[in-house]
Amino acid sequence: MPALERLEQESFSASDYPLSRANFLYHIKRENPLFLAYEEGWVLGYALGLLRPKSLRLYSLAVGIEYRHQGVGKRLLEGVMEEAMRLGKKEVTLEVRESNQRARILYEKAGFELWKRLEGYYPDGEAGVRLRKALS
Ligand SMILES: CC(C)(COP(=O)(O)OP(=O)(O)OC[C@H]1O[C@@H](n2cnc3c(N)ncnc32)[C@H](O)[C@@H]1OP(=O)(O)O)[C@@H](O)C(=O)NCCC(=O)NCCS
Repeated sequence: MPALERLEQESFSASDYPLSRANFLYHIKRENPLFLAYEEGWVLGYALGLLRPKSLRLYSLAVGIEYRHQGVGKRLLEGVMEEAMRLGKKEVTLEVRESNQRARILYEKAGFELWKRLEGYYPDGEAGVRLRKALS
């Protein structure tokens, strides 16, 4: 839990509403899928999914600053998609800030496509984009 809190602090600003310990516990209790990337006991990153009847919504994804650009985010995303397929979901969806180029490149390389632009989606007024990837 301290490792997840640290990841939130270094990955998101206050206007992104970083997840608190209570938020993580809420999702774990409800069995929403939480993926951890770890090495020798260190948590490198995580992805949190929300289960919908026909889809999995990728709710949050973060990799520790010192572990970025090494394929950890890509591997977490693959894990999310594998789990969604295993559960028989038809698609994976997510929302991301329009300006978050790093994350958008990662998602586009994984086959996500623009679904909707969300004007003023974030509390600071920035637009978001909703992306989706159909699973076969
Ligand atoms: C977005 C994030 C999860 C990516 O994690 P990561 O482990 O660095 O990503 P990877 O190393 O797996 O990179 C995967 C792809 O993303 C792209 N990418 C990663 N870092 C990049 C950078 N600095 N510039 C451009 N593209 C980049 C590359 O295309 C890379 O593919 P490649 O290695 O085949 O070229 C990480 O930067 C992060 O935690 N950011 C802060 C939180 C955040 O924005 N989360 C997403 C919110 S929706």
